[in-house]
Amino acid sequence: MASDSVVDDETRLQYLQAMGIEVWVPRRNRAAVSIEPVEAAVEPKQQEETIENVAEMPVEDNWDDLERQVAACRRCQLCETRTQTVFGSGNKQADWMLIGEAPGQSEDLEGKPFVGKAGQLLTEMIRAMGLSRDQVFIANVLKCRPPGNRDPKSDEVEACREFLQRQIALVQPRIILAVGRIAAQNLLQTQDPLAKLRSVVHKLDNIPLIVIYHPAYLLRSPLEKRKAWEDLQFAMKTFKGLN
Ligand code: URA
Repeated sequence: MASDSVVDDETRLQYLQAMGIEVWVPRRNRAAVSIEPVEAAVEPKQQEETIENVAEMPVEDNWDDLERQVAACRRCQLCETRTQTVFGSGNKQADWMLIGEAPGQSEDLEGKPFVGKAGQLLTEMIRAMGLSRDQVFIANVLKCRPPGNRDPKSDEVEACREFLQRQIALVQPRIILAVGRIAAQNLLQTQDPLAKLRSVVHKLDNIPLIVIYHPAYLLRSPLEKRKAWEDLQFAMKTFKGLN
């Protein structure tokens, strides 16, 4: 089993420990440690471009236009206080798309999603799944930082919704991870609490969507990291079932 994984068990053990998750391994068995199998290896997307499906393609949206429009956006009040927009980053043809809530202070300054402390933990969570940040695409519901990191307002989410929809349409991910309650509630247009949203395969535009804990929450509530790992395993299992 372990040989099918993208990372070996020993390496995954290190990532889990970096996430702050203790994996109990008897010392004498250490060499033979077997953590839950992860076969969620990302295989390059192979989409055949036949004459027929090229002909069916609508007048193309494209990344350059979208990035330019986001950077120039003045659809809501957040444009007044942002340092810059945070478009998203990663593999534009990823199978996995992670969607957070909104940029925080570090992201607003750097122009990239999840680069602060929570971002470092998210990177570990991605690695624990046997992936790297270069293999996934990361975006947010909002492209601009709400002042003081307050929750996004509904008019801001609505103003930004089209940008995210176009990103999803361009990436065409096979699975989406909603990072945290606020992202999940806005994406799924529900007020359900996280406890009800996790461990369920939702659909967004017919794409399977799984809700995971926000790393900022996990930094405040480290005891929940075990459940966070269960959610990541659930996501990997779901992804595997798609193949
Ligand atoms: N929190 C988010 O939801 N997104 C980021 O990009 C950073 C922190």
